[in-house]
Amino acid sequence: MRILAFETTCDETSAAVLEGRVLRSNAVFSQIKLHRKYSGVVPELASRAHLEKIPFVLKGALGAAGRPTPLRPGAFDAVAFSRGPGLPGALMVGRVAAETAAELCGVPLIGVNHLEGHLLACEFAGGRVSKPLRFPLLALIVSGGHTELWHARGYGDYKVLGRTRDDAAGEAFDKVAKLLGLPYPGGPSVEKEAARAKGQGPVFPRPYMEGTREFSFSGLKTAVSYYLAGRLGQDFYKRGLRLPPGERAQVCRSFQDAVAETLVRKAADAARSLGLTRIAVGGGVSANKALRAAFGKLDGFEVRFSEKDYCSDNAAMVALCALRRLEAGKFANSLKVSPELDRPGWR
Ligand code: KG4
Ligand code: ZN
Repeated sequence: MRILAFETTCDETSAAVLEGRVLRSNAVFSQIKLHRKYSGVVPELASRAHLEKIPFVLKGALGAAGRPTPLRPGAFDAVAFSRGPGLPGALMVGRVAAETAAELCGVPLIGVNHLEGHLLACEFAGGRVSKPLRFPLLALIVSGGHTELWHARGYGDYKVLGRTRDDAAGEAFDKVAKLLGLPYPGGPSVEKEAARAKGQGPVFPRPYMEGTREFSFSGLKTAVSYYLAGRLGQDFYKRGLRLPPGERAQVCRSFQDAVAETLVRKAADAARSLGLTRIAVGGGVSANKALRAAFGKLDGFEVRFSEKDYCSDNAAMVALCALRRLEAGKFANSLKVSPELDRPGWR
């Protein structure tokens, strides 16, 4: 079974080849440099960059797959792409590329849910699909656009328990980094700064949203902004005023701790209430070491993360979702893809 997959939901253009359980290639072009000066992803620029890069990324993935894998009947058994959620213009590029490849190869086209990709990315180890998830489990998806808790009962069988009401966890990292004058993407910048922190810093609130499975990170971002306004003046951002490096590192660590504690507590509460002992964490924010350490301290749970290479957006995880669908025989053998972008399940 050989699958060709595309990923273009946000600011990574990626194509991958999965052959059986072996990941033959996973070519990723990151647009970070393009968006850095705006401190966030500019959708129109992202779409254009996907359009420009996708032929080269595809060529790279086919070349790195180890042998010439031209797009012809017999080369692939299925073509997959992230159908959403994501930026509309960006999604279109991956979809058209996948439709074209599927048509050329005469094989099924499988549109997968990007967030399911982040969950299944936990199954990769050493370039192979060698650590299958064990269900049922509690899934926590933490990315730049989403923060969600799912009751995952099997492949494709996901019940969304709660989402964020406002900012996603990654978005909060990105916005706080911007307030502090740190480069985009904010997650890795804040993590790096936090690692330098010494001494007691400010304490920010934990937005637990008691009694719900939902999240809310915009208040935490506002708490950081009030702290900065208190220290530097109301118009600190406009005037380009910044904290001294030592204090900035403390703010980063305090913010990161607040996010990590909130995510761990909410995931653990949800898992306990459902009698689940397994937790799997996916998405860009799951690369964060403080978050991994906080989950590591949790007693009574087996917690899975994906390898660092597969935390951020990539087409390997998209190919893997398609593999699970093919194995279950649950895919439409046609060019029609489901418009229900918000529903991750396919059972
Ligand atoms: O999953 P992802 O690559 O793209 C989306 O689907 O959104 O996630 C990107 C997000 C960004 O907000 C980025 O700041 C955050 O993940 N991120 C991190 C880290 N690495 C990336 N957040 C915290 N710590 C990190 N090390
Ligand atoms: Zn993502």
